[in-house]
This record gives sequence, C-alpha cells and structure tokens, in this order.
Amino acid sequence: MDKFKITGGVLLDGEISISGAKNSVLPIMAASILNSGTTILKNVPHVHDVITMKEILEHIGANVVLEDDILTINTKNISKTDAPYELVKKMRASYYVLGALIGRFGEASVSLPGGCVIGARPVNLHIKGFKALNANISLEHGYIKVLPSKLKGASVFLEGLHGSSVGATINVMMAASCAEGTTYINGAACEPEVVDVANFINSIGGEIYGTGTSLITINGKNTFNDTTYTIIPDRIEAGTYIIAGALIAKELKISNLNPDHIGAILNKLSETGVKYKTENNSIIIAKAQSVNPVNIKVSTYPGFPTDMQAQFSILMTQAKGSSIILETIFENRFMYIPELMRMGAKIQMKENSAIINGPTKLDGAEIMASDLRASAALVLAALIAKGESTISRIYHIDRGYTKIENKLKNVGALIERIG
Ligand code: EPZ
Repeated sequence: MDKFKITGGVLLDGEISISGAKNSVLPIMAASILNSGTTILKNVPHVHDVITMKEILEHIGANVVLEDDILTINTKNISKTDAPYELVKKMRASYYVLGALIGRFGEASVSLPGGCVIGARPVNLHIKGFKALNANISLEHGYIKVLPSKLKGASVFLEGLHGSSVGATINVMMAASCAEGTTYINGAACEPEVVDVANFINSIGGEIYGTGTSLITINGKNTFNDTTYTIIPDRIEAGTYIIAGALIAKELKISNLNPDHIGAILNKLSETGVKYKTENNSIIIAKAQSVNPVNIKVSTYPGFPTDMQAQFSILMTQAKGSSIILETIFENRFMYIPELMRMGAKIQMKENSAIINGPTKLDGAEIMASDLRASAALVLAALIAKGESTISRIYHIDRGYTKIENKLKNVGALIERIG
C-alpha cells in the first residue's frame, strides 16, 4: 500500500491551481442519468471517487470516457437500475444514483452504504424524501428497493437532528426533477455543491429554483437535453492549501478558486491574524509570524465546514494559546488527533470538542490516515514537522485530492509516494 514520505520544514513558494469539486462532480455524474443522452463535464478532478462513480454508471449500462479533466457520459442505453454492494461499499456517494434512477425509471435497487469511520451516517432523510414523492420504497436484505412508482411533486421537510443534509437534498432534487408537478424542499442544504447540481440539472432542461436557500422549488419535467457543463472549484481543496500557506509558505498563490464559497474559512483565518490577499479567483498567503487561537464550531453552509475542521486544527497547534474545535455534524471526526499528539501536539478531547494548546513544535513520525480530511490534515502536520514523517493508508487522500503530491512538489515540498 502506498505511503507518503514527507520531510518537513521546507518553505512553500509558487502557485497551486484548484481542481473541480469532488462533492459536485459525483452527484452531477449521477444526475447525467436523467437526460438519456450525452453529458460533457469539464474541470473534473482526478480523484479515485470519480473512477468509482464511473464504474457504477458503467455497471448500469452508461458509456463513460474520461480524458484529462473532461468526462463524457452517455446514458441513452442504460439497461439496469441496480447498484450492488460491491460498488456502493467503496463510496457512500454511490447512493446518488438512487435519486437519478428513481427519477428516470421510477424504480431502483441500490445497496445501503452502511456507516463509515467518521460516523453512522443514516439515510432516513433520503428515504423520507422519496416516500413523499410517492416512491414505493422499502429496505430489503441491505438494499433500498423502489418498486415501479409514478413520482408526484410534494412538499417535504428535510432537516434532521444535525440540520440540513447535502445528500438528501440532492437526491430528492434529482428524483423530483422528473416527478409530475411541483416539489418544495424545506430545510434544504445551502452548500455550493447543491447549487452546482441544480445548475447542472437546469442546463439539461430542469426547472429548479431557490438553491442556496433553505427552500428549493422543483418543477418536474418529462424530457431533458444534452449539455456541456463545468464543475465548480473544490472549496475544501482550496481551504486545505490555504492552511498550508498560513503554516509554511514563503508565498503561496492558490488559484482557480471561488472566494465566495470559502467565506467562513477566510473569516476564521482573519481572526487568527494570518494575512492573505484576494486577487480575482486567487488567494495569496504566506506563513504567519504569529497565530492567534480561535474557536471553531462547525456547521452547515455558510458556516465553517466540517470538511475543514481537521486542517484548521493543524493551524491551531501553532497558535499562541488555547483554542476549542467543536464538531457538530459527524460523531467521529477527530481520528487524526491521537496521531497529531504522537507528533507532539497538546490536545485534550472532551465529548465532541478538541481543546488545542499551542504553539507546539511537531516532530516527524510514522502516522496513519483514517479518512479523507484527516489524511489531508496529517499531510499539513508533516509539512511543518521537524524531520521525516511517513503517512500510511493514503488511499483515503487519493479519493478526494487531485495529485496532491505533485501539487505540493511543484511549490517546493519534499514529498514522495513510496510503495
Ligand atoms: C456530504 O456528505 C459530503 N459528501 C461530506 O463530505 C460532507 O462532510 C457532508 O456533506 C457535510 O457537509 C459528499 O458530498 C459526497 P449530510 P453527506 O447528509 O451528504 C445527518 C468529504 O470529506 N443525516 O449533509 O452524507 C448526517 O449523519 C465528505 O468530502 C441524517 O441524520 O452529509 C450528518 O450528521 C465526508 N439522515 C448530517 O445529517 C440522513 O438521511 C449532515 O450529513 C442524512 C444525513
């Protein structure tokens, strides 16, 4: 299994260009099922989850060609409406084919994804939404089965105990795009990826209004057209490299991002006293002389994203004083902390919060990645640590970061992939 060997302490200098958003392209690939024709996607990130979604689309009969960052999908000859466990277990986002298949065919059989390391991750809100649309849905032998159903527009409230759900909002939006009549999603997620999926569906002839707010209105349609669509930049990849810049850059330009999507991250960064400059679609940032501790409470968009919690914690290990990081969305997103403590960080865990006392010098060590964002955080930690670190299980990082070692090497980092 591949590992990263990183020698810390080298100042980064240069430019990193941000790739397309993983959490947009996956549901948009699934939504391409709706148009029964050709979809061309541009700015597609080179991440392993895209390959997994490609395999699922191919399994049901779609023709999918990936060339550089352009993905061409033809869904005319789809002949199956199932997604088996072997494919779904690799990636939770596989469940996006459910909304699209129910929309186009009125039936589907998709394996339940199960829990994952960051939390239990139930799908009750997805099911509630599909039921409201008149889907004849049941759970059988670990599969969500929808028997032939005629979808009808409805009003549905999709907020759960942890607030709105990105996945349920998108899944229901896809199915409702083919329902008879109008659907209203109340308590909808406002994340930029939800807006991107809606913009994509509108580009194939859908009618979705109100995305980016908590009330989305969808007028169902019978026919859709071909499209060429460009995926938005990945705001979490951008945030990760911005933190790298604040930690250890002579000067780092992070380009091809959308500053409007990273407002909460930039606001928190300003509170730490770290200086940065925004220039069109780029952020220019350098290593801060001193970092103030700040408290973070993660929340749904436009709040501070849970997907940036781990990376921001690395910056807090360098802040002068104590900061509290409160995770409110997933119950198990602090798996990187014991690894960080082995590198010398001073952190106490209390229920769903981490109290970080800084500044601490980190030492290189052998560490293990537990999930995607935790792995990115450990890479950041290794970049500032004294000496050499080896990070194992980096297949997690390959699921969501485009060529991370090449992007970091290009700006001077000493990082190698070893077998
Ligand atoms: C998406 O997951 C992202 N994944 C996650 O990115 C991200 O962390 C998360 O949204 C929150 O922003 C993709 O887009 C592929 P949710 P999703 O439904 O849609 C609870 C990454 O590192 N909930 O918004 O699965 C749920 O347990 C990842 O790229 C229910 O209770 O997240 C959580 O507490 C990991 N019932 C909260 O809602 C449901 O039916 C928000 O989850 C669905 C969710």
